[in-house]
Amino acid sequence: MQPSSGAGMAMRAKARQMADQAASGGASGRIAVLVVHGPNLNLLGEREPEIYGRTRLADIDRQLKQLGRELEMKVETFQSNSEGGIVDRIQKARGKCDVLILNPGAYTHTSVAIRDAIQAVNIPVIEVHLSNVYRREAFRHHSTIADIAHGRIMGFGAESYSLALRAARTIAQQSRRRSA
Ligand code: DQA
Repeated sequence: MQPSSGAGMAMRAKARQMADQAASGGASGRIAVLVVHGPNLNLLGEREPEIYGRTRLADIDRQLKQLGRELEMKVETFQSNSEGGIVDRIQKARGKCDVLILNPGAYTHTSVAIRDAIQAVNIPVIEVHLSNVYRREAFRHHSTIADIAHGRIMGFGAESYSLALRAARTIAQQSRRRSA
């Protein structure tokens, strides 16, 4: 029998179809994204609006969920002011989410624990900031996660998150295709 027998071709076609379905967010495997906001981001809209804009965190989360529905992705959001809370939430995502969108707030510049959590769960991370940290104080130029992030998006205000969500979709599709 030829290697490309009818049965073999059918199996390969089925596998391709399943991979495509998963990659396109089909019902059997919608792409799942967790969005984590760090300290003080609960005050968005009121906190230094000249830097962070006037959009509230609840509005950002609502917009992300709406965009997620349009792109057929599952989007969960979470905010914590504590480093341990962020570490716990990242650990909980292990094996359950395709991509993590993370704005660690001030912990960006200090946290080894958040960096370790990202490495422990092995989920691709998109680092997000509302402001362009390189236009600000020097202490904001260092990020403990920059070198382990898949990519970084900053300086677009609330839109940084929606850009990240679109990028997350691409990353997840590529990785599902690779492992199909
Ligand atoms: C921030 C930038 C950080 O330097 C700052 O501590 C924040 C917000 C941003 O989104 O621009 O809290 O992560």
